Amino acid sequence: GKVCLAYSGGLDTSIILAWLLDQGYEVVAFMANVGQEEDFAAAEKKALAIGATKYVLVDVQEEFVSKILLPAVQANAVYEDVYLLGTALARPVITKAQMSVALENNCQFVSHGCTGKGNDQIRFEQGFYAIDPEIQIIAPWRLPEFCEKFKGRKDLIDYAALKGIPVAQTGAKPWSTDENMAHISYEAGILEEPNTTPPKDMWKLINDIDNTPDTPHFINITFEKGLPTKIDILDGPEGKIVETVTGDLNIFLTASKLGRLHGIGRIDIVENRYINLKSRGCYEQAPLTILRQAHVDLEGLTMDKEVRQIRDQFVTPTYSRLLYNGAYFTPECEFIRGMIKPSQVSVNGTVRLVLYKGKSTVIGRYSDSEILYNAIESSMDELTGFSPVDTTGFINIQSIRIKKYGLTKKNRGEK
Ligand code: ARG
Ligand code: SIN
Repeated sequence: GKVCLAYSGGLDTSIILAWLLDQGYEVVAFMANVGQEEDFAAAEKKALAIGATKYVLVDVQEEFVSKILLPAVQANAVYEDVYLLGTALARPVITKAQMSVALENNCQFVSHGCTGKGNDQIRFEQGFYAIDPEIQIIAPWRLPEFCEKFKGRKDLIDYAALKGIPVAQTGAKPWSTDENMAHISYEAGILEEPNTTPPKDMWKLINDIDNTPDTPHFINITFEKGLPTKIDILDGPEGKIVETVTGDLNIFLTASKLGRLHGIGRIDIVENRYINLKSRGCYEQAPLTILRQAHVDLEGLTMDKEVRQIRDQFVTPTYSRLLYNGAYFTPECEFIRGMIKPSQVSVNGTVRLVLYKGKSTVIGRYSDSEILYNAIESSMDELTGFSPVDTTGFINIQSIRIKKYGLTKKNRGEK
């Protein structure tokens, strides 16, 4: 049989590649460019040296940004209040690309190096089955014969030596990472003790606060229907524009570059995995932090109150949970995705931010098409607009029920 293996160039998937060959499979090594820092040429060389028939690299960066990342900003996607889903968001595009490569190369099997305790195995495999229900999946880390053979890192290294697979001496860090243009994750190893302070040299994408510039960046982010369409870089808080960035990928990479420069978007959390285990993770998620913050702010100015409440109660948490749980390719996720766009028709305008010393701060916002916010109507100093006298009636009606609640408590003698 022929297998399309999601190859990372690291020790685990190199061992899996060699092991699949040992089992008599032919292997196509697949890699996706999702904007991670990676020596793709070295990975190709390594895969072919181990014995892959072919190495296929697919650049999915544009699709990742336009189809997944910016719509995630539009939906305010977030898991358990802080994790902006960087890894989960990349899985649908990677899965789709891998399945195309499998099909083009007549592979009946797909394989991956995900562990048996994580979310990623679920994300990949639910995606594979949604795209081709006939596909056969080899998940080595869930096969007893594989786990028997490779009980620890030493077994992997011994097998690598046997097969002549080079093992990077310096590259081995006591944690595991997953990187793409949206973020990097750090998990496992020494981080599994949740009270261990992450070592300073672990953080790789975002500037440490000690190294961030002493001069801030002022940027304006413009949204159309809730999607970022432009970033202007200014020379001061009310300054003139020195650079204008358009195009989905450029916008995302600019938010990334500036956010990383100013040390924005590091988190350290304990999260609930889909498989009901808790897991400690550290993340650097600069671009999504800035773009989401700006988007949420603009909604304050431009979005209908009730639409926003329903969206916040239902659409954002459901969408985020489905993404986290690897349910992107499902009818329920299609349904939820369909609700995002109609919530965003009025989210047009520009948010002004300053990026400085680990933080992005909103310093103003405007919208040309805005009619929901009227400064005179809302003013505390003006009696035009609605009449404060009417508010007496509004409070009276609201209070009918609340007075009864008060009476009940009083009768019970509760304070
Ligand atoms: N815990 C995060 C998530 O589930 C990150 C997972 C990182 N995956 C990896 N293969 N290293 O989205
Ligand atoms: C893995 O198990 O491969 C990484 C962790 C995860 O998927 O959550």
